[in-house]
Amino acid sequence: MRKNIVAGNWKMNMVNDQAKELALSVVENSDTVSCQLIIIPPFTAISDVQKVINKSNILLGAQNCSQHKSGAFTGEVSADMLTNIGCSHVIIGHSERRAIFGEDNQLLSEKVNHALNSNLIPIYCCGETLQEREAGNHFDVIKRQIEEGVFNLSEDLFGKIVIAYEPVWAIGTGKTASADQAQEIHKFIRSLVLEKYNETIANNISILYGGSVKPDNAKEIFAKPDVDGGLIGGAALKATDFIAIATSF
Ligand code: 13P
Repeated sequence: MRKNIVAGNWKMNMVNDQAKELALSVVENSDTVSCQLIIIPPFTAISDVQKVINKSNILLGAQNCSQHKSGAFTGEVSADMLTNIGCSHVIIGHSERRAIFGEDNQLLSEKVNHALNSNLIPIYCCGETLQEREAGNHFDVIKRQIEEGVFNLSEDLFGKIVIAYEPVWAIGTGKTASADQAQEIHKFIRSLVLEKYNETIANNISILYGGSVKPDNAKEIFAKPDVDGGLIGGAALKATDFIAIATSF
């Protein structure tokens, strides 16, 4: 059966001293957590955080990677570089990458393939803007993001990925999707996976919700049958909040 996961996306926050302190505090308070925790610091802090969490059950991720294996790509970080410093996961297609850095489904599909080839598990993000939801296009947008980003994968490789549904209008806004809205989209995503692949893969894929998840709303959202955890932004920057969310199943 699929895993419950709570992943903390620290975004562009935390210089290394702060990162080590936060990671240590998560480790020290994680005894009561039964789901899989993943910490996703900025690139610069990954190695330091790795040293702090390395004897715990917490996994490590990165927020992005290049679609290229190596070479003359100034400023880029390859998937191999990330596995080599202890990352098991990488976020691909976060809405901030899509909106601010112009990453499209085609590019993201290359990144997903490349990450999987380097033994990194992609956490592939999808989600609609407010405008798209208000126009009633959210199902179409998400379908396209999923089809174009990850449906070129073989059954074997698709079976390894994690999907995160992050409605853009709920990210960092304090405005969460209701638990019913999250469930509706998660169920839709799972139905797409069932149609494309098979029941085992659809039942086994973890689909995380992201967008203003906090200790006081996590329980209701995580109680929904197709929500398998969360991708947490702001609340992951405070260990007590992150742990409170992770113990909300
Ligand atoms: P917030 O939890 O700050 O809304 O961010 C969600 C997110 O973007 C996680 O990737």
